[in-house]
Amino acid sequence: MTKKIIIGNWKMNPVSRREAREIVSGIKKTVASLRKTTVVLCPPVIYLENLIGKKPGKTLFGAQDVYWEEKGAHTGNISPIMLKETGALYVILGHSERRASGEVGEIINRKIKAAMKAGLKVVLCVGEKDRDAHGHYLKVLEAQLKEALIKIPPRLVDQLIIAYEPVWAIGKDATGVETPEGFMHNAIFIRKVLSKIINKKQAMTVPILYGGSADAKNAESFLVAGGADGLLVGRASLSAKDFGEILKIAESLK
Ligand code: 13P
Repeated sequence: MTKKIIIGNWKMNPVSRREAREIVSGIKKTVASLRKTTVVLCPPVIYLENLIGKKPGKTLFGAQDVYWEEKGAHTGNISPIMLKETGALYVILGHSERRASGEVGEIINRKIKAAMKAGLKVVLCVGEKDRDAHGHYLKVLEAQLKEALIKIPPRLVDQLIIAYEPVWAIGKDATGVETPEGFMHNAIFIRKVLSKIINKKQAMTVPILYGGSADAKNAESFLVAGGADGLLVGRASLSAKDFGEILKIAESLK
């Protein structure tokens, strides 16, 4: 079994640096005993430098967004190069919460290209708002992938990770629960679309993670029965105990 990738998306939490440090130090205790699980934490960018510290350890870090320009008159934005300066290695792009505030495919595509060029690994989020029984939602996934990945240089494709996050299964207001079978079906579809955008061989190697109320109770089913290459965890990544349990589950898989 290949290495699983478990990513924590903290979103706009917690509200103090002290709390952020406490969560990270708890998570690091679990990470110390892991050998084959890749662990990435994506806190608010303001905490990154402090949490990463001077020497990079086994717990890797990323951001939840990045701008596409290197520098200039772009008030409020952070460039991929600046992000790299903090020691961050990953960036989540195209999250549904950013799409909901107006981020469109063309912007996501620009961000992906700039982030990859700077050497960051990109976690591209895709997912439908609603699931219909006729499979029309697959068209949404296909369009999201095609728009986001226009003209991605083939040599940078090994920096790509996809997170399939059905919007209706995310957060405390989720209206439904994704099943491992549902995930698997959609992951196969995503790979099929990828093989039309990038070359077939590369499409087989892009990790596809599941996200949407992932926790210690359902982690194993998504990773084993669902065949997920990893998880993008929201709420449960804000507790060192809950996230630690997920990490131990991922590590224990044969
Ligand atoms: P939850 O795990 O809180 O549902 O969030 C999922 C998510 O959006 C991760 O990016």
